[in-house]
Amino acid sequence: MRIVVLVSGTGSNLQAVIDAVKAGGLDVEIAAVGADRPGTYGVERSAAAGIPTFVVDFKSYADRASWNAALTSAVEGYTPDVVVSSGFMRIVSPAFIEAFDGKYLNTHPALLPAFPGAHGVRDAMAYGVKVTGCTVHWADAGVDTGPIIAQEAVVIAPEDTEDTLHERIKIVERRLLVATLAALAAGQPNAGHPN
Ligand code: GRF
Repeated sequence: MRIVVLVSGTGSNLQAVIDAVKAGGLDVEIAAVGADRPGTYGVERSAAAGIPTFVVDFKSYADRASWNAALTSAVEGYTPDVVVSSGFMRIVSPAFIEAFDGKYLNTHPALLPAFPGAHGVRDAMAYGVKVTGCTVHWADAGVDTGPIIAQEAVVIAPEDTEDTLHERIKIVERRLLVATLAALAAGQPNAGHPN
């Protein structure tokens, strides 16, 4: 199973995938890692691991449509079986979703459909929920919508800040992402579900 991973930031979820592949616990080929801006640590990590990288810089394009078209063709060039949005903070167009129909996987640091969007951790805390978590799902053209593959809960502690909570969620999120990819690579339809 060939995957392309899209990142916007530090890429610690990506690192978990790289580590699992290296350790022999995940039978996927990371065909490439792409970012929407230059200078991400995610791309740096990948280059250090010998993985091909590419950047389709959002700011270099006149509009969202032309950026989306460039991103779509960059990803298509690596002929992935699965495209992973792993901390990729840009909304992609329906044309991208169509190009990778049923192949675009997203991770989100909340229990969808609760708290979609860029601030899932902050929004859960602000609402006052006592339990949040993370979700791995097939992404459709909405914001953090599409069929859910796996979820796991994380209890919010009274002393949590957004950062401490997000870090605890990410520990679970990394494990869930790797487990989901492993199950998909093994052809299991209910990929990654812990129950
Ligand atoms: C993850 O929690 C992801 O779900 C969210 O941003 C975080 C990215 O973390 N959208 P990292 O870049 O993998 O460390």
